[in-house]
Amino acid sequence: MQKTSDWLMSFTTQPRPNARPAIGLSKPTTCVKVSITGGKGGVGKTSVALRMAKELAGQGHRVLLLDCDTNLSNTAIKLGLPLDDTFWKLLSAEKDFRDCIIRREGFDLLPACNGSVDLFESQLALDEIIIDIVSAHEHEYDWVLLDCPAGLDRASITLNAWCDHRVIVVTPDKSSITDSYSLVKILQTRFGIKENHLLVNMIQNDRQFQKVVMTLSETIENFLGCRTHVLGGLRKVDVSAEAFDTFFLSEEGSEWHKNFFKIVQQFAEKWGAGNISVRPAVEQEVH
Ligand SMILES: Nc1ncnc2c1ncn2[C@@H]1O[C@H](COP(=O)(O)OP(=O)(O)OP(=O)(O)O)[C@@H](O)[C@H]1O
Ligand SMILES: [Mg+2]
Repeated sequence: MQKTSDWLMSFTTQPRPNARPAIGLSKPTTCVKVSITGGKGGVGKTSVALRMAKELAGQGHRVLLLDCDTNLSNTAIKLGLPLDDTFWKLLSAEKDFRDCIIRREGFDLLPACNGSVDLFESQLALDEIIIDIVSAHEHEYDWVLLDCPAGLDRASITLNAWCDHRVIVVTPDKSSITDSYSLVKILQTRFGIKENHLLVNMIQNDRQFQKVVMTLSETIENFLGCRTHVLGGLRKVDVSAEAFDTFFLSEEGSEWHKNFFKIVQQFAEKWGAGNISVRPAVEQEVH
């Protein structure tokens, strides 16, 4: 059987000569913008984005989560909220930003649409609109998280490149690893993005985690010259699909949640803005 690293190398090409200059990671002094991304669908991007927003809010930060899966929005569904066309009303200037925000779990959420024909027909430049929305309100937040859709469409790639950080959610699947590599490749060749973060979801053991990290980060470094900051791994939890969202978002105190808390805390300490005043975190034991 072909090794995953060989498979990745088989479609690697040299960076394009007209690539934009490399953009490295820096520590911003204001709001930090993070995309939760990964080429493949169903790897846990929305779940991670929601839990990360909740953890950051719990640690005292002001957080805005934007659902950038603009017409297949899942954030409200996972929170058990009713669906509506508020996002379209924001886009069509019928409502203000503040009227469209839902406050849940200590953070602000801007959900998007679910099969809106208006949005589908509109052909709006959603990347530009989302950047405008964030730019107008980022001073109100310490963190803005973008829950990005699967795939490599131009609007999503642009949003990823625009963010200060990208958290790439990958699973041990060969297709997920390959799709993540493709995402990093496009970001590097078209936008000069040289650094990304990696969160390995649905791992079954440490060996599997190490294997994904090595395969992906080494191939990315060797063939794209990009750096991968490994945030950690999340175990595949043994709960039914119906019970998953409740487990993921609500349950506290389990080893799984302590691990997630620690990953977010370390990320925030290392990459959070220098000048934000963080309230004391809600007491949680960290292992
Ligand atoms: N750590 C995990 N353990 C077990 N199941 C998980 C885990 N993470 C995610 N899942 C399962 O994967 C499903 C998809 O998760 P989620 O919607 O967050 O993925 P996504 O990447 O946002 O998907 P999409 O590409 O469709 O937006 C969850 O509803 C859950 O059933
Ligand atoms: Mg999603």
